[in-house]
Amino acid sequence: MKSSYSSIFEKYLAENLFLSSPKELYEPVNYILTMGGKRLRPILALMGCGLFDDRVEKAVPAAMAVEVFHNFTLLHDDIMDAAPIRRGNPTVHKKYGLNAGVLSGDVMLIHAYDFLLRIENKSLVPEVFSIFNKMAIEVCQGQQYDMNFETSAAVSIPDYLRMIELKTAVLLASAFKIGALIGGASAIDADHLSEFGRNMGIAFQLQDDVLDTYGDPKKFGKKVGGDIVQNKKTYLVLKALELTEDTDRMSLEKLLSSSTEDEAVKIAAVKSIF
Ligand code: IPE
Ligand code: IPE
Ligand code: MG
Ligand code: MG
Ligand code: MG
Repeated sequence: MKSSYSSIFEKYLAENLFLSSPKELYEPVNYILTMGGKRLRPILALMGCGLFDDRVEKAVPAAMAVEVFHNFTLLHDDIMDAAPIRRGNPTVHKKYGLNAGVLSGDVMLIHAYDFLLRIENKSLVPEVFSIFNKMAIEVCQGQQYDMNFETSAAVSIPDYLRMIELKTAVLLASAFKIGALIGGASAIDADHLSEFGRNMGIAFQLQDDVLDTYGDPKKFGKKVGGDIVQNKKTYLVLKALELTEDTDRMSLEKLLSSSTEDEAVKIAAVKSIF
């Protein structure tokens, strides 16, 4: 099933790559969209539809909208996280510069809405826009909490869970919900799927945070240890702060408030405390 959803999406993407001018605006867009990625969110949109209607193609513009939106967030997230590598390649701001990361990201957000407008059943568009807008605002709120927590010593595990729900889980939830509504789901069924997507999204971000420290860089496609370097308050850090005492606790707190050490030394030191 996954492969057929995946091929429906990849075909639509290939037919809808960005050929407009100027190329400096759109080359980074096509670069990020064609370098792979798991396509989790568009596949969720198609699956959500497929649960209620065999004609899953109906959901492909919405699937494209969620993937373009996701990739927009990656462009800006990589600037905010000073990330050099994404999907095994240089990040957009590393390859094309900071301004390209900002502006190509902006235009992707707008194109995401344009894809939503292509939903065949126009009577669904206002509701879909409202779900999408709420989600997009929450992603920004989550991203701000993520940044705030980098310099805050008082982050609890519930704070962390709420932050990852906002920055990550609401997009999975909305992708599933929008797909289901396009497939003809009742409001109750669509909400249940949204809830399933939300819980899956929380688990997904927890796992992403584990992989950021313990993943195989070749499979992960991102710089391993990046969260430690950025002083991200991941579950690993919060649990370590809870379980350590005395010198370990003091060294961890010192490591988490520093940005000047040699990166490899800092990553090794934090990992040894974990
Ligand atoms: C990256 O998402 C951002 C997170 C929420 C962790 P993915 O891990 O789904 O990235 P791609 O799209 O597969 O590259
Ligand atoms: C991703 O969180 C959330 C968004 C992109 C909105 P991360 O910062 O953990 O994602 P990666 O690890 O860079 O993909
Ligand atoms: Mg990041
Ligand atoms: Mg981030
Ligand atoms: Mg991450």
